[in-house]
Amino acid sequence: MGLLAFFAILVPTVLNIALALEAPTTSLNDGNKIPILALGTYGGNGDTMRQTINWAVEAGYRHIDTASLYGNEEDIGRGIADVIGKGLVKREDLFVTTKLWNDKHARNQVVPALKESLSRLGLSYVDLYLIHFPISSEADGSDGYIDYLETWQGMEDAKRQGLAKSIGVSNFNSAQIKRIIDSSQIPPAVNQIEIHPAHTREALVTKCHNMGVAVMAYSPFGFLVPRASSAAPPPQADDPALVKIAQKYGKTTNQIVLRYLIERSVIPVPKSTNKDRLKANIDVFDFTLTPEEVATISKFNVNKSVFGDDDSSKNHPYYPYTE
Ligand SMILES: NC(=O)c1ccc[n+]([C@@H]2O[C@H](COP(=O)([O-])OP(=O)(O)OC[C@H]3O[C@@H](n4cnc5c(N)ncnc54)[C@H](OP(=O)(O)O)[C@@H]3O)[C@@H](O)[C@H]2O)c1
Repeated sequence: MGLLAFFAILVPTVLNIALALEAPTTSLNDGNKIPILALGTYGGNGDTMRQTINWAVEAGYRHIDTASLYGNEEDIGRGIADVIGKGLVKREDLFVTTKLWNDKHARNQVVPALKESLSRLGLSYVDLYLIHFPISSEADGSDGYIDYLETWQGMEDAKRQGLAKSIGVSNFNSAQIKRIIDSSQIPPAVNQIEIHPAHTREALVTKCHNMGVAVMAYSPFGFLVPRASSAAPPPQADDPALVKIAQKYGKTTNQIVLRYLIERSVIPVPKSTNKDRLKANIDVFDFTLTPEEVATISKFNVNKSVFGDDDSSKNHPYYPYTE
């Protein structure tokens, strides 16, 4: 083979390897490492979800976010078995997050609930187990009153038994996290909350970081994508300020919003089941935003949740949305 032909084969091969993008990792307060971008999976089910996991891992995703509530742990488990079976990754290369639902908040329900999730996922441990929401629920779906400190003891049991490498919370406010830290043996490693340009949560993010708690950002695209809730505040995907930044870096406005979150040291959890959008959403590690650009995007904040203003639990003692 001539030298030219040899390079004609070698160069695309090397490029292909380089094209599979992996998110960098950061350290949690328990010493474990977490990839700084995760695949969201809410709403993806069946063969679509299984296929999505295959595409995502091929594209470089190593962190998968699910929950018992999403009803897709089995499909995700099949996808994980596929990618491990194909030799794309080993179990230890993946970071799998799942969550405890509100109807299993008694201490003695936590480990059994996690074991059920593990059985559906086909795994012997998860990398991160989160309390999905601070308010428990009764069998009929009404609010319960189990103290989340009791639930946290069950989470500690799960970590001590090696069923979850790291444990954390989701949708908690800073006072609730401080209360756990002050009265427990293991502090939460993560708080997963809604964050996007229309709901920037700066005070809560700063307080979490100051307590050593990493923050994951769910619904990271905010109102750039269609939402069920009625009035969508700016920014939307064609917002001129976002478009200007996107053009500067040769990226889409969705990619700019993901990078904005990374600049703020929060871990975005973008969901897609579309092969091209999956690839685009992890292609955010070859540029950085300036502090001025981050500030420009933060100015969109109007404290608006994509889930509407459901205040049905507002008077509950463990209602979290107070900051
Ligand atoms: N802890 C909690 O209480 C909680 C609550 C909500 C969500 N979450 C987690 O966070 C994840 C993300 O939140 P989310 O699903 O609400 O919202 P999201 O990731 O902000 O938005 C998902 C939507 O954006 C679309 N999309 C994805 N990439 C796109 C792109 N590059 N360009 C244009 N559209 C794009 C998706 O459609 P396609 O799939 O068709 O691409 C989907 O409709 C969830 O999946 C879940 O894992 C956690």
